[in-house]
Amino acid sequence: MKKIVITGGAGFIGSHVVRLFVTKYPEYHIYNLDALTYAGNLENLVDIENKPNYTFIKGDITDETFIADLFDKHQFDGVIHLAAESHVDRSIEDPLAFVKTNVFGTVHLLNAAKKQWLNNPEGKRFYHISTDEVYGSLGAEGLFTETTAYDPNSPYSASKASSDHFVRAYGETYDLPFVITNCSNNYGPNHFPEKLIPLFINNIINNKPLPVYGDGNYTRDWLFVVDHARAIDLVFHHGKNHDTYNIGGFNEWKNIDLVRLLCSIMDGKLGRAAGKSAELITYVKDRPGHDLRYAIDASKINKELGWKPSVTFEQGLEITVNWYLNNSEWLQHVTSGAYASYYEKQYL
Ligand code: NAD
Ligand code: TYD
Repeated sequence: MKKIVITGGAGFIGSHVVRLFVTKYPEYHIYNLDALTYAGNLENLVDIENKPNYTFIKGDITDETFIADLFDKHQFDGVIHLAAESHVDRSIEDPLAFVKTNVFGTVHLLNAAKKQWLNNPEGKRFYHISTDEVYGSLGAEGLFTETTAYDPNSPYSASKASSDHFVRAYGETYDLPFVITNCSNNYGPNHFPEKLIPLFINNIINNKPLPVYGDGNYTRDWLFVVDHARAIDLVFHHGKNHDTYNIGGFNEWKNIDLVRLLCSIMDGKLGRAAGKSAELITYVKDRPGHDLRYAIDASKINKELGWKPSVTFEQGLEITVNWYLNNSEWLQHVTSGAYASYYEKQYL
């Protein structure tokens, strides 16, 4: 039986990856290693928590001894590394927290994997999940490819770029078997409501202002989280060793256009008059160092592994909005406590 540790498996993307692997591969044992920070939530996984091939381990990847002991104990065959501090606005407030988890944490995992696999790398794989934000910002034209130079602008993207470099360096220096993917903005169920789409859904439900940064003319390429998890499954099993793949939604939206679309969907769902939710749009101070545009050329993963998104943006948004409307308890739980003070500091 293959033993695979998925880090950050209680978070947004991680929980979808854990669910896919636990249900699709009963022959694997899946260990979900997560510190349960503000962004980690075991409520995301209640449907699979009793499966015989699933174990949750509460632990912090910044704890070097804990990580070394854990790898000694379990002798994992694969690592799918998603644990991270993931929110750009938080990275602007506290860059060091991002260095600790995203850089130090990644290097502790690399050291532990290297020690286990040095003499038997056959069938082993360290899969590092990264972001397109490492490439910096595009102008009005062009797309990020796997050969675009790294040019990170935020403390978040700088920490992810650094961790990507460490993974590649361990591949070159110690022949550690690895693969890296750089993905565009995800959306979907279980997304913590500090990021644009879930924050705005939550605010529309609660009739709160929708804080659009700057003029709203910033562009992101949105991908449904389940399609990202499908890509991760493909790359983990069939991606080329020591290679990187870009993953994107072929789905660019200016923030303000996306917000208007979301408002009109929510008007329909909440039985409000057309245009009512859009009245909540409020232009606020811009994010410092705000990247103008991200857009991915995902043709390599499409050609080599046959991956493409399975749902349209309209379908994905419909699933997402319905999920938030049907899971008000989840929203209540994650927006109480520490979230409330973050929100107050960020927006009021
Ligand atoms: P998230 O913030 O929702 O979840 C992160 C998870 O990591 C949480 O469960 C948290 O508890 C855990 N974690 C944080 N610090 C930890 C630590 N020190 N030790 C152990 N666990 C820790 O993030 P997400 O949006 O699901 O992103 C997952 C990964 O995908 C990240 O590496 C992120 O950089 C990358 N990524 C995200 C997006 C996106 O749009 N969300 C896009 C591309 C890549
Ligand atoms: P976000 O969801 O934080 O993802 P990222 O910064 O990683 O792309 O933000 C998506 C876009 O939405 C980005 O251009 C910033 C913008 N934004 C707002 O305009 N208002 C907000 O309150 C937030 C959180 C984001």
